[in-house]
Amino acid sequence: MTELKKVLVSQSELAKRVQELGAEISRDYEGKELVLVGILKGAAVFMADLMREITFPVGIDFMAVSSYGTGSTTSGVVTIKQDIHTDIRSKHVLLVEDLIDTGLTLQHLKQLFALREAASVRICTILSKPSRRLVDVPIDYCGIEIPDEFVVGYGLDYAEQFRNLPEVWVVGVNAQPSS
Ligand code: IMP
Ligand code: MG
Repeated sequence: MTELKKVLVSQSELAKRVQELGAEISRDYEGKELVLVGILKGAAVFMADLMREITFPVGIDFMAVSSYGTGSTTSGVVTIKQDIHTDIRSKHVLLVEDLIDTGLTLQHLKQLFALREAASVRICTILSKPSRRLVDVPIDYCGIEIPDEFVVGYGLDYAEQFRNLPEVWVVGVNAQPSS
């Protein structure tokens, strides 16, 4: 049985960091053409909150990826299940993620958007587990660093459950990431 153990990040803490990140992004990209690219499904909740903290019109798009691997780590082989529909050539792309774990997914996506000739590619995540990193991918906008525990809520799932919890919880099973 999956059991919710404790709240790791509260709703108000999340809201405060999202506000701060939105203000920082608004300052940095003022006057530029920015497209937020949310990584489905996990980043959907963060994306919806973040875009409303940005003070000028931005484009939004989504992409779905899966990283196949064994056990709790991703393999680094990233398959695109759903691509964006926006032409991002010469536009500034900000990849919006729920959680950066090994960093392999984002490293791959960053290279992909560079090949697609975006004007710039940066990374924004609401959560990060620095102790799990396998590749050194720079996180330009990092919300909250968390310890190496399996978490759900605020878009994150365990076996497609718990995405709708408004706060981030630690799960009390030998849970493995589903994507
Ligand atoms: P990575 O950085 O390439 O290892 O991939 C990170 C992705 O793995 C996240 O976007 C999540 O989809 C998933 N993931 C990693 N840790 C967790 C967790 O604690 N809970 C839920 N999903 C996780
Ligand atoms: Mg994800």
